[in-house]
Amino acid sequence: MARATSVFICSACGTEAAKWHGQCPGCGAWNTLAEEARAPAARRGGGGGAGRAVKPVPLSAVQAPRHARLATGIGELDRILGGGLVPGSLVLIGGSPGIGKSTLTSMALGNLQGAGRRTLYVSGEESAAQIRLRAERLPGAALDVPVVAETDLDAVLATLDAERPEVCVIDSVQTLHAADLTSAAGSVGQVREVADRITRLAKARGIAVLLVGHVTKEGALAGPRVLEHLVDCVLQFEGERERTYRTLRALKNRFGSTNEAGVFEMAGGGLVEVADASARFVGEATRAPGSVVLAAMEGSRPLLVEVQALVNPSEIIPPRRIANGIDRNRLALVLAVLGRHAGVGVGSADVFVNVAGGVRVDEPGADLAVALAVASAQRGVVAGDGERPIACFGELGLSGELRSVAHPDRREAEARKFGLTPVISPDGAKTLRAALRAALPSQPSARAA
Ligand SMILES: Nc1ncnc2c1ncn2[C@@H]1O[C@H](COP(=O)(O)OP(=O)(O)OP(=O)(O)O)[C@@H](O)[C@H]1O
Ligand SMILES: [Mg+2]
Repeated sequence: MARATSVFICSACGTEAAKWHGQCPGCGAWNTLAEEARAPAARRGGGGGAGRAVKPVPLSAVQAPRHARLATGIGELDRILGGGLVPGSLVLIGGSPGIGKSTLTSMALGNLQGAGRRTLYVSGEESAAQIRLRAERLPGAALDVPVVAETDLDAVLATLDAERPEVCVIDSVQTLHAADLTSAAGSVGQVREVADRITRLAKARGIAVLLVGHVTKEGALAGPRVLEHLVDCVLQFEGERERTYRTLRALKNRFGSTNEAGVFEMAGGGLVEVADASARFVGEATRAPGSVVLAAMEGSRPLLVEVQALVNPSEIIPPRRIANGIDRNRLALVLAVLGRHAGVGVGSADVFVNVAGGVRVDEPGADLAVALAVASAQRGVVAGDGERPIACFGELGLSGELRSVAHPDRREAEARKFGLTPVISPDGAKTLRAALRAALPSQPSARAA
């Protein structure tokens, strides 16, 4: 059989080059050429004359068998997937090193194996012995999962074809290597080739594949963007390695909503679903200046999280503006509105804002919580009555007005469940000034003093 050759394609303009140049010969861009395998005579044709015509079929005549979804037995994961894994689908799970990607996928395979499904764990990162050590601390049938430690793509594809698992984990897509390409494993061309060939086999054999992917320093999924287009579902595992809480959310889902997210906790026995995360966060909330509770939305579920702020005189110019769990630009906006429209200037003080528990909140509804936490810290007063934390949500407009956000009823109901009433929201307070009057007593409290 003729061996595939490789060419280099410019990701900016599509120019083809026979060998690697630092600069694209077509558009002149630097470092845009990525290697791609090409079978001899494939994709040549030109002019549309060489291909075989195919007959279009009306959609109503297409056979679409309904395959039952495969439940991974991890409630939060199944919910995020839209009810379990779809046979023949590809799910990409991204997350920073040590966050728990291998643990989550091993647990899912263990549960599936225990439920009588054929599974396979392919690891290019760890030896079989390392995988066993992890599986020993996991529940279910994690130790019964067949495993191969392999990095050669052809060997992995041949194994999949021979074993015909119903569900397979590839850990990770960046470690597999296609022998046709000379570039190193993990390079753009390699990742694209690996994902493309696994996709074709998975679709043809009906294997549900969980692809583990690395993330870049900025937190985006590493590898070409095309990888996200190729797969059916992209899940992001977030949180800080040092903290116990991790959030799993769907960034893309061809078979369900992308509004779902789940909270996990890393424990000795693997990842534990945190069914009532609000109760944990409210229970841990401090009653000190600079602390408020945000009624946030994690997908379609309300979640109460503590937002903390610290305002401290600084010797440094410019002063520090540190945001953990919220967008840094959003913090800058809130500080500007606080100063301009609510008379709470932080001047040259350092400002630190933190969402407790390592949770990340990416929604404008967090603005009011950040503003109240900073104002409470700056004035040295405890928000609310000092007994219970105060709950709030709402977006800040640039002229100091409060703007409504999605699902106010669900947010209020969640806060009520924990006795956090009244909730400061755009429904009651129309401006940031009004919200501050409602949330903060005018004098520093005895506890704060
Ligand atoms: N016995 C244990 N109890 C609690 N946590 C543990 C235990 N053993 C390992 N961990 C935690 O599990 C995490 C590693 O999980 P895992 O290997 O699944 O991560 P990963 O995302 O696959 O990492 P990588 O990117 O390196 O492959 C670490 O943060 C570690 O602290
Ligand atoms: Mg891993």
